[in-house]
Amino acid sequence: MTGPGAELLSARGIAVWFPVGSAVTARLRHRPRLLRAVDGVDLDLARGEALALVGESGSGKSTLALALAGLRPVNRGSITYDGRPLPTRRSRADRRRIQIVFQDPYSSLNPRLTVGGMLRELIAVHKVVPPREQAAFAAELLRLVGLGEDALRAYPRQFSGGQRQRVALARALALRPEVLVADEPVSALDVSVQATILNLLADLRRELGPSLLLISHNLAVVRHLCDRTAVMYLGRIVEVGPTERLFTSPAHPYTRGLLAAIPRLAPAGGQEPGGTAGPAVAGDMPSALSVPSGCRFRTRCPHARERCAAEDPALASAPGEPGHLAACHFAFEGIAAGAP
Ligand SMILES: Nc1ncnc2c1ncn2[C@@H]1O[C@H](COP(=O)(O)OP(=O)(O)OP(=O)(O)O)[C@@H](O)[C@H]1O
Ligand code: SF4
Ligand SMILES: [Mg+2]
Repeated sequence: MTGPGAELLSARGIAVWFPVGSAVTARLRHRPRLLRAVDGVDLDLARGEALALVGESGSGKSTLALALAGLRPVNRGSITYDGRPLPTRRSRADRRRIQIVFQDPYSSLNPRLTVGGMLRELIAVHKVVPPREQAAFAAELLRLVGLGEDALRAYPRQFSGGQRQRVALARALALRPEVLVADEPVSALDVSVQATILNLLADLRRELGPSLLLISHNLAVVRHLCDRTAVMYLGRIVEVGPTERLFTSPAHPYTRGLLAAIPRLAPAGGQEPGGTAGPAVAGDMPSALSVPSGCRFRTRCPHARERCAAEDPALASAPGEPGHLAACHFAFEGIAAGAP
């Protein structure tokens, strides 16, 4: 378990692997080469909570989000919704419950439909409201995301990036989701509009109350918006806990490295060896085609020792802190706190 009670969405041991290379190579090897994008993840999202997913590029965040939203099949593990196992092919009602907003709002909107046409089609297909209420519902959605009714007659190309992301949010909210997944929702936008879209996201959550899974590279935003934070490394969750706890007392050396890269967020006295200049986690993440044995972080970990190559550490909770877990053999023995 990685979260408090009343879980809405729960993943257990989920894995998403991509076969790579040609069919001929796969034959010669007797099996395809597998890229382990998500490689055994347990994660819970409680009703109404905001959970952040952070980690370096390529750690598997988007693949995990797509799997949770039912947009990518899983190779292993199970996903439950409100205690009910979700089948690989989800019903329309189950697809409706989890909506995702992507980084690039342009490629995720149909350029041939006006915003009004797009919203009406969606509302009709999913029978969100009776036909006579559809127009008013579409107008209300646009009001919620800060766009006027004029937007109903406009095409996506007529909007700025920030406005397009507002449209993408309106489309996601049209289905009255219980879970909203936002995958880097502002990183493709001008810095000047990023804050307004993030504030909108926070307002919508307050007003409408869906759970939020927010993927972001911006740790300051994560700290501001999210109740809990999960840190992903090479296909696994390596630490998860209440956001403030994780930011002030990170237990996993990787989390400490991520935070140390941002001096103003780093916990006092908590810099990893190597100081604050440049990336605080030395070296590059290994390929997901060849995950290191034992602890997958060991090739970059300043504290790695013999046991780390032999044993894969499970997520385990901090003493007296059941909601704060880390996957490091020594996380709660003082090593991650900088002790010799
Ligand atoms: N469709 C795909 N086919 C093959 N490999 C893929 C596919 N999608 C993702 N991958 C690989 O899976 C791994 C995880 O990718 P993913 O996009 O989930 O990472 P991410 O954490 O979202 O990264 P970023 O922060 O850059 O968005 C990477 O090694 C990536 O190259
Ligand atoms: S288990 Fe070992 S290699 Fe992995 S994070 Fe902990 S100390 Fe580092
Ligand atoms: Mg991604």
